[in-house]
Amino acid sequence: MMTLALTGCSFAEPSPLNPRGSVAEEQLWLIKLALGIMIFVLVVVFVLFFTALVRFRKRKGQTGIPKQVEGNVKLEIAWTVIPMILLTILAVPTIQKTFALAKDYKELQNAEKIIVTAKQFWWEFEYPDYGIVTAQEMYIPVNTPIYVELESADVAHSFWVPALAGKTDTLPGLTNSMYFDAKEPGVYKGKCAELCGASHALMDFKVIAVTQEEYEEWIAEMTAPATVSEEVAQGEQLFKDNCMSCHATAPDGKSMGPNLNNFAERMYVGGYRENTEEWVYQWLRDPQKIKPGTTMPAFGHLSVEELEALTQYLLSLSNKQ
Ligand code: CUA
Repeated sequence: MMTLALTGCSFAEPSPLNPRGSVAEEQLWLIKLALGIMIFVLVVVFVLFFTALVRFRKRKGQTGIPKQVEGNVKLEIAWTVIPMILLTILAVPTIQKTFALAKDYKELQNAEKIIVTAKQFWWEFEYPDYGIVTAQEMYIPVNTPIYVELESADVAHSFWVPALAGKTDTLPGLTNSMYFDAKEPGVYKGKCAELCGASHALMDFKVIAVTQEEYEEWIAEMTAPATVSEEVAQGEQLFKDNCMSCHATAPDGKSMGPNLNNFAERMYVGGYRENTEEWVYQWLRDPQKIKPGTTMPAFGHLSVEELEALTQYLLSLSNKQ
């Protein structure tokens, strides 16, 4: 009971206990099966235990040692066979589902392929079929299998979207893969689930599930040529001088830091702060304060006015028509 209270389980929020995709639903079914068997065993053991405690307690006036019993073939067979049956009930569907859920890209129909690269402490999403590279916000169409290839650019991380599927590690030098889908449009929280450094707990991302139509609009938006207005010319120059060695802005540009194409349309800056003027400014001024251990350097050598110009430029990076 204490464990349940302390975990702060919420049955209203999308979570493994409240799945929003078919993979997560199948995994919840396995969780329920395992939990059901465990609760059954727990209840039987507790009932027998407390019955024995009460029925065979020491009574008033009782002296001497009770009758000693050694060995009982029937009972011994029972407590060997019953667990074997229970473990078989658990093992068969678990193994079946484990293999069924390990489908390869070729086995999935109409799947969208996304290459995920984990970096301290953010996520890069590459859509090889559309020439799109983006960060932190993974757009997906609903009711479509999403096949992800998982890589890491540095240490071990773990890709986890609780409402859509279980965790899969991203490891340096190795490509893992998994698939999932979302049944309803929505914004699903994603987390890094492997301790990876100072900002592990802040290594969030979002999976944004949209309708097929909206997904196509998003692709068009992401690949549309960016227009930079005259008003942010100073910021653009500052960006070229200070940021471009680490940040690409071309739709398919891969860079050390997050690709910033269409940045103004992102929900968050630094992974979890609202993408507003105030937070973009704070991020540029002192990113360590928002994400300790990030490789992004502080731009403290820029004046307040310059930081503001850079902020304006970043918030003008929108391809939305
Ligand atoms: Cu990446 Cu924890």
